Parts: sequence; C-alpha cells; structure tokens
Amino acid sequence: MPANLIGGALLMLFIFKVVTTNPFPSMTTPEGRDDPLERAWRSSFVDVSRRSHAYLRGALWDKHSGSFTKNVSATYDPADEVAAQQLLAEQSRYLDLIRHDLQPWKDTGITKDMVEAASMLYDKCDGDMIRVQIINGSLWVHHITERLEGGWYPASLGPGNAAAKGRVPYAILAFMDTLRTFPGQVPDVDLVLHTADFPCVSRSSWVGAAARPPPRPLLSFQGGRHHLDLPFPDATYWGHEHQYLQDPWGAPVQGWANQAELLVRKYENVSLLDRIPQAQWRGRTKDERYPGRDHLRRVFVGCMDELKAAGRGEDAALLNVLSPALALQDSCDYRYNVYIESRAYASNLKQKVVCGSLLVALRTNFWEFFSRGMRPGGEFVELSSDPNAVCEQVVAVTRDMNAAFGAAYASGQLASSGETTPLLARQLKKMRRDKRLASVLEGSGVTAGARGPAPEVGLPLASGSGGNFSWGSSLMPWEIAANGQRFILENVRMQDVLLYIRDLLRAYSTLQRFQVAPSGNLEGRSVCYSGRLLLEQFGTPYATDAKTVEAAYPWLRTFGAGCPEVEGDR
Ligand SMILES: *[C@@H]1O[C@H](CO)[C@@H](O)[C@H](O)[C@H]1NC(C)=O
Ligand SMILES: *[C@@H]1O[C@H](CO)[C@@H](O)[C@H](O)[C@H]1NC(C)=O
Ligand SMILES: *[C@@H]1O[C@H](CO)[C@@H](O)[C@H](O)[C@H]1NC(C)=O
Ligand SMILES: *[C@@H]1O[C@H](CO)[C@@H](O)[C@H](O)[C@H]1NC(C)=O
Repeated sequence: MPANLIGGALLMLFIFKVVTTNPFPSMTTPEGRDDPLERAWRSSFVDVSRRSHAYLRGALWDKHSGSFTKNVSATYDPADEVAAQQLLAEQSRYLDLIRHDLQPWKDTGITKDMVEAASMLYDKCDGDMIRVQIINGSLWVHHITERLEGGWYPASLGPGNAAAKGRVPYAILAFMDTLRTFPGQVPDVDLVLHTADFPCVSRSSWVGAAARPPPRPLLSFQGGRHHLDLPFPDATYWGHEHQYLQDPWGAPVQGWANQAELLVRKYENVSLLDRIPQAQWRGRTKDERYPGRDHLRRVFVGCMDELKAAGRGEDAALLNVLSPALALQDSCDYRYNVYIESRAYASNLKQKVVCGSLLVALRTNFWEFFSRGMRPGGEFVELSSDPNAVCEQVVAVTRDMNAAFGAAYASGQLASSGETTPLLARQLKKMRRDKRLASVLEGSGVTAGARGPAPEVGLPLASGSGGNFSWGSSLMPWEIAANGQRFILENVRMQDVLLYIRDLLRAYSTLQRFQVAPSGNLEGRSVCYSGRLLLEQFGTPYATDAKTVEAAYPWLRTFGAGCPEVEGDR
C-alpha cells in the first residue's frame, strides 16, 4: 500500500532554510542504527519472505545471488541494435487512453499559467510535489514542497530501505530512465507531478467543458472515475523492491521486470487446480493518518466473523483474510487474490495477477496507466463494491468457481500438475485436518497432498445474468486468470512503463503553448539533475542506500553529465 511505505517517514518534518545539493548537510546519522520502526517493518515481511523462497534456488539454476538486485535495467534494455531500434519505433499501447485523459486541454492547450496554477496545488494535494522540466533532453526539477514537508524524507526506516526516501527520488529516476531509453525522443515539457496516495483534481471541477476554464494539468500516480489527474507510474514500486519481495537468496527483488520473472517462474508448474481454493486478502485495514480510507477492507475482513457468528462456518472457510502472515510473493499459493482499493489504487495488482491466480476485484474507482486495459470478466473478476453486498457476493462466487474447478477436474478437463510450493503444501495439509476447512477442498478439485482417490464431483454451475456465470463472465475462472497473466506479461512490461511515460510527455508537449525554460522565483527554482546528484540524495543520510540504487542502476553515475554546473549559492 502506498501509504504504508512512507507513512512513518512522513511524520517527520524538516524545514530547510538553505537549500544546497545535499538536503541534509548537518545530519550525520550513524549507519547501521537499530531503528525500532525499521525492525517492526522488517519482521512483518522480510522473515516470512526469506524463508518462503529459499527452496527456489535449485529451480532458478540460471540465477545467482545478485541476479535480481544488480543492474536492473539490463533486464529490459534491448539486447541488440535491432531490438533497440524496434523499441524506439514502438508506440505506447495506451496512446488512446493518454489522448482521452488529455481531452480537457484539447481546445485551450496547456499554458504556462495553467502549469504555475497546478504548482500552487501543493497545499491542497496531499503529497510531495515537484515541477519537472525537460529541456533539450536535460532534466530540471524544482522540489516545490521541499520546505513544507521536509522534502527528501530522512529515511526513518533505516539504512537498507531506499524506498523510505519517499517517491520523489524514484520519480526522478523514472524520468531519467525514460530519457536514457529514448534519447532524442522526449520533447521539451513543463509539468507538475504530485506524489500523494490520492488523486487531487476532481472531475466535477470541470464538467461542462465549454462553460468553465480547463482544470489544472497535474500528473499523479493514478487516474480515477471522479478525477482528472494524469496517471504517472510510481517508480517506488516499478523500479524498486515491493514490500520486500525476496529472491531465493534473501535479497530484495529490485524492479518490476525481475519481480515478474521470479513470480512467473515460481508458479510455472503449480496448476491453479492445486492452489488453495480460498479468496485471500492481506493488507492494511487501518491507516492512522487517514482513518476513513479503509472502510471497504474492514467490511470484507469483518465478513468472516459475521459468517461464523451466523453459524455459517463452511462459508467463512471460503475466505482467507489477514492470517496466517503471507508475503506478497506467496499470494498465488491461493487460487483467488482479492483486490480492494482504499480511496486509491493498490500497487500490488500486477504482482497478484502475474503469478497466475485469479484476481477478484471489488469494483474499482482508480487506475494506474495500464489498469483500464484489463476487462472485468476478461482478465479479472469484478464484484460489487457495495458494502452490503460484498460478503455474500465473494462467498457465493468463490463457491461457484470452486464448483467449476471441481467439475472440470472430474471431467478430466483440468489436471493436477502435482507440484506445489512448500508453504502451499503445508497449508493444504493443515486444511485437511480441520473439518470445516476440509469442506472447502471437497469438490473444488484440489488433489495435491490428498490421500486416496479424489471424490467424484460434477456440480451443476450456477448461471447468472446475461448468460454469464455468477462471476460475471462466460469464461471459466482459469481462463480469466490465464488472460490476466498474459495481459500483464505482454502489455505491462517495463518497456511499456517507459513507452507510456515517453508518449504521455509527447502528447502533453503537443498541447503546450509556450517555450519551456527553467523555472524560478522566490520560492526556489529548478535544478538540472544529473544521476550523480540523485545518487547523492539517495545516499543521505545513509550512504548504503545510494550504493544499492547505484548497483541497480549503474548508468546513473554518468547520466546527465551535460548539466550546467550548479552554483553553490542559491
Ligand atoms: C518447472 O518444470 C520444468 C520442467 O520439468 C523445470 O525445468 C523447472 O525447473 C520447473 N520450475 C520450477 C520453478 O520448479
Ligand atoms: C549492466 O548490463 C549491461 C547490459 O547487459 C552491460 O552492458 C553493463 O556492462 C552492465 N553494467 C554493470 C555495472 O554490470
Ligand atoms: C537548447 O538547445 C538550443 C539549440 O542547441 C539552444 O539554442 C538553447 O539555448 C538550448 N536551451 C536551453 C534552455 O539550454
Ligand atoms: C458477460 O461476460 C462478458 C465477458 O465474458 C462480459 O464482457 C459481459 O459484460 C458480461 N455480461 C454481463 C451482463 O455481465
């Protein structure tokens, strides 16, 4: 969850009177400090993660310690000159959506006044904000909120947690990676990006285009049904580790390309039939900073207790929420991954889908750049987000889908692959010892670890509205899961992230009605950013964090060497 990641760090406020290239000139926090917050954070993910992947060392024969943490961009860089040329000639698959999202400015264009007005939203939008200018292929950044929120977070999560630096340095990394990958293809732009958990420009401020001035153009990490923010990928997640998703050697898996490969290979031989036939969900249900945001999650989590209280233990057993502790990397031990947003997109959708289980999403209001490409009933199952309907719907649909699996197994349409993960095997064994939980396995086609022949089943399938099954599709759940996985692998590659950014910037620039120049006023001004400057900031206060980022993105050392020298006194 975005807020989790930096929530703790956000609490610390620092106000800087003098801005120098080093944002923490006077901070000399010793490295290796034992931070209780950091310890708590790690214990919840890292230990679980590390244990659960050690078994993969043998299967990933072509990998070694470091394969998933070093030189990350090499995994998506074109392998040769021909491939490089092909990538340069490619267009983003999301170009239509980009154009659609930019519609509000189609007639008026984007003026400098609009961009400056957007930069004044810093006290309305919740997060850190930057003004970004690309001029002649150089990256200029003005960190607007630097003096308000402390800007660069002082890494309260301790050394070894580069993500605790917040999202701004990763956003800069994403712009740099785009410029590096598409030299000469990124035009001059002047834009404002805010990095909050929530979108900020409401759609209602604009409807009735003719009558009103266009909204302020603002990039953020998501778009939404009720918002006009332009989605920009949050590289905290795309370019970095995700909640300590771990490789088999216990190191964080850096970057989405590596994560996707690891998750696909981990589950390549584990048939959906053999996965735990429950609808699982893990996540935050209470955000101290934004108490109102997780309502639907609390409803869903409360569902299990309600069912049990009503004497419906077998229905409750179709759900699996909060416990046992489960790392994101193990979520596809379960057949169904529930997705519940919380007034914002959740960044783990792609991981939940790519490992091959079925995504069951409560109707969503927010999207990342790619999510609108996934169709309900096509690449995932969509259920109502009505708090009064959630519980019964998830139970009924999970039961029906299990019956479909059971029938397909009985008829020989689906077969067990005979492989599981160690964690999955243990969990199934536990389920078989518990009468209520064992009832879920009956008839759902799970054979892994079972003694004796599986029971003969052939349950009739419920047929819902419009000729579809209760899960809102004419397709079978395993077909939908396979479509979802294919969609992510083919359309949500790291190259697609970069192509999207490039084409968003291009489309934006065609609307610009002014010549881009470095901005500056009393509040501060934009600085030409080299990779070295970025690394320096990643390395403050913990030098080790800069080393991690540099090992993952070695090209940063020389990127932007053409920047004019930054004057010392500003
Ligand atoms: C999946 O099966 C193939 C073929 O037997 C094998 O080469 C590969 O290592 C297996 N993958 C995993 C993760 O076990
Ligand atoms: C990173 O990978 C690229 C492409 O394979 C290679 O050219 C480069 O030398 C590597 N850099 C480091 C520091 O390993
Ligand atoms: C960009 O490049 C052009 C041509 O080389 C040059 O005239 C212009 O001054 C440059 N702009 C900036 C802001 O550096
Ligand atoms: C039926 O399922 C298809 C996908 O298979 C979906 O496109 C369509 O909207 C569904 N119809 C209804 C009435 O839910």
